[in-house]
Amino acid sequence: MKLYFSPASPYARKVRVSALELGLAERIELLPVTLSPVSPNAQLREHNPLGKIPVLLTDSGEALYDSPVICEYLDALAGGGRLWPAAGPARWRALRRQALADGITDAAVLVRYEQTVRPEALRWSEWIEGQRLKIRTALAELERESLEGPFDIGAISIACALGYLDLRFAEERWREHQPRLAGWLAALAQRPSLASSTPA
Ligand code: BEZ
Repeated sequence: MKLYFSPASPYARKVRVSALELGLAERIELLPVTLSPVSPNAQLREHNPLGKIPVLLTDSGEALYDSPVICEYLDALAGGGRLWPAAGPARWRALRRQALADGITDAAVLVRYEQTVRPEALRWSEWIEGQRLKIRTALAELERESLEGPFDIGAISIACALGYLDLRFAEERWREHQPRLAGWLAALAQRPSLASSTPA
């Protein structure tokens, strides 16, 4: 298999962490790509018309995207039900947490693009504040939840969203407002899948 990714992408990190957790990382060749919303990558668009990473090329040559689809595919390849609870409340909790965490990531990436890609004269501070509010409200919800339990796709998504905030939004100092969440992430930090995929 081949994975189009970039080291800073929190979505691609979810896939890399999942592959490591499932013992599949050795079967995946990592293909780094550089892209932004205004400099698309033609080769990538041949595999994903949306031009976004991550994209997984399976051994049969099929292109899979986006990160939830790829992570579920890898889980199925490893026998199923390992990172994606098969049924019942645990499944819905994991999927909701993935949605919440990916929502944090989506808002953070939009702010990042607004602040680094959009010409300064066109930037819209109220819109940026709206995205930041989503991030803060979602973090407050995670702080209220008990995250103890298996390192499933919900937990992986949360860890990758927080890692992206640490990479691009250190000034948010989210740990000051979410000490329980900070403790949860610190307890996981030495996990090889997370430690080896931390963006520099
Ligand atoms: C970033 O460099 O912040 C980034 C890279 C890939 C996807 C999203 C964000």
